[in-house]
Amino acid sequence: MCGIVGYIGNNQAAPFLLDGMSKLEYRGYDSAGIAVYEKNHIRIDKCVGRLEALRQKIAGNLPEGTVGIGHTRWATHGRPSDVNAHPHADSSGQFVVVHNGIIENYMALKEDLISKGHKFISETDTEVVAHLMAEYFTGNFEDTVKKVLKMIEGSYSLVFMCAKEPDKLICTKKSNPLVIGLGNGENFIASDIPAIISKTRKTFIMSDGEIATVTKDGVWVQDIDGTPISKKVFEVNWNAEAAEKGGFEHFMLKEIYEQPKAVRETMRGRLAKTGDAIEFSELNWTAEEFKDINKIFIVACGTAYHAGVVGKYYLEKMARIPVEVDIASEFRYREPIIDGSCLAIFVSQSGETSDTLEAMKESKRLGARTLAVTNVVGSSISREADQVVYTYAGPEIAVASTKAYTTQLLVMLLLSIYVAQLRGTITQERVAELVANIKEIPEKINRTLENVEQIKVFAKRYGSCEDAFFLGRSLDYAVALEGALKLKEISYIHAEAYAAGELKHGTLALITEGVPVIVLATQPHVYEKTISNLREVKAREAIVIGIAVEGDTEMAKHADHVIYIPHADGELAPLMAVLPLQLLAYYAALTRGCDVDKPRNLAKSVTVE
Ligand code: F6R
Repeated sequence: MCGIVGYIGNNQAAPFLLDGMSKLEYRGYDSAGIAVYEKNHIRIDKCVGRLEALRQKIAGNLPEGTVGIGHTRWATHGRPSDVNAHPHADSSGQFVVVHNGIIENYMALKEDLISKGHKFISETDTEVVAHLMAEYFTGNFEDTVKKVLKMIEGSYSLVFMCAKEPDKLICTKKSNPLVIGLGNGENFIASDIPAIISKTRKTFIMSDGEIATVTKDGVWVQDIDGTPISKKVFEVNWNAEAAEKGGFEHFMLKEIYEQPKAVRETMRGRLAKTGDAIEFSELNWTAEEFKDINKIFIVACGTAYHAGVVGKYYLEKMARIPVEVDIASEFRYREPIIDGSCLAIFVSQSGETSDTLEAMKESKRLGARTLAVTNVVGSSISREADQVVYTYAGPEIAVASTKAYTTQLLVMLLLSIYVAQLRGTITQERVAELVANIKEIPEKINRTLENVEQIKVFAKRYGSCEDAFFLGRSLDYAVALEGALKLKEISYIHAEAYAAGELKHGTLALITEGVPVIVLATQPHVYEKTISNLREVKAREAIVIGIAVEGDTEMAKHADHVIYIPHADGELAPLMAVLPLQLLAYYAALTRGCDVDKPRNLAKSVTVE
């Protein structure tokens, strides 16, 4: 996710900007740049790669000036490149902007500006904002910002510079973070507190729709109609490391709590305004085009593979097309029967996993159509694929994947509905029903996370066990796989997931007194059967923690403990059911004193076979 910094004061801006950006590196980025008002013009220096590359580029020739903005870019529109890096300017160089988020209507705005003679040099949505400032400049910087904000749609935090009024920076936000730091004769802007904490602890958080005009002597906040807003200034009492994690003890926990926002970003622009269709503007498939596809492969590793297992259920149920899910490292060496009549979907958070990448190359070689589902724009897998769908989860830092998984599930669900629409295997009424339910997911994720206190107790009580089992049928089995992986990788408790009906074919021998068994029972069509399997393990004196849907009165009669998730369409339950399992793994790992964000032997991105 992009990082923003801004400085205005009596000191040189560039050293602060570079230092502040380094404190935002944890957000993930692929390019960096700064703009400083130097000798009557705004000088921009930017390049692809790490901050170090930018430092080297300007070493010995640092821009001189006391007003500036800086940006670390995490690509969303346009690949990582020098020209796509921020800051962006209009053609005259008088209006400069940095942006975190997505301008959804940028294409329409860009076409209009091009028709008015504007020339664009980048592939980004952000450049449009700088050109809008130039096109609609009223003679007053602040008024023009307000005018432009009325034209743009989407999510953003934005900081504007104007060479005609270099004594101020103007910033605003909608659904993306922005904080202001207050100093003596200097003021600061940043995406997050770590960037400014070395300079000031006096700060306030911008709210959506607020516009701040920042000078070296003060900050004036108003809404778009000019109504003044008084902000509550507070003293930061965290240290820099804690601040990077937004006050959470670990990145994993932060990322678990980021899931409502992450899924909101994933669905953005993909639910038709009419409420009865799914759209993927990046695919734009037609029914005719899809007619030749008679089989789908989903190929991935680890957590992404588990999202693929859920995807298989969705696609087969809704689009009525056969789906094979493969572990990437197996797929490559099993001589897969795949050709031009197949669509092969590769799921990868990082977009760099070498087994997944190589499997994609092999599928292409055999003539299949390839689609990447990834979180990282410009990653190897996104470049290699014929087409790409991004999950927009924001950077995931913790080794254990959480928000990447839920956003992959959502993409799988949306894709399945989309393919079902093309194949005519779903009614418009059913799509409308699903869309209405999908819109409620962020709020339902929040509600599910409220179970945290109950889960902490279970983690303490059972955290010393050496084995655990996860059972479920249908979609619950797919989620059980992910629950077991989470527990294994960060708490080092041996955990296995089984299709509940499979247990008595051997594994039941391992179920003895006191063994924790987590039973997921969120799928109505297999509910009774799951409860029968639960009773089988209970009869062996296992400790059963049930995951059930609110309103279920049966589960509590059989399980030792029950964690309830909000009621939702069965298809959507995995998006909620996995959350208690993530929290359980996290708190079990804490109980056992494990290094949650960096589990032993594991790496975030696996680029070796
Ligand atoms: C587990 C985890 C891994 C990854 C796997 C694939 O929490 O994160 O299992 O899912 O290494 O990584 P990507 O999705 O980057 O291809």
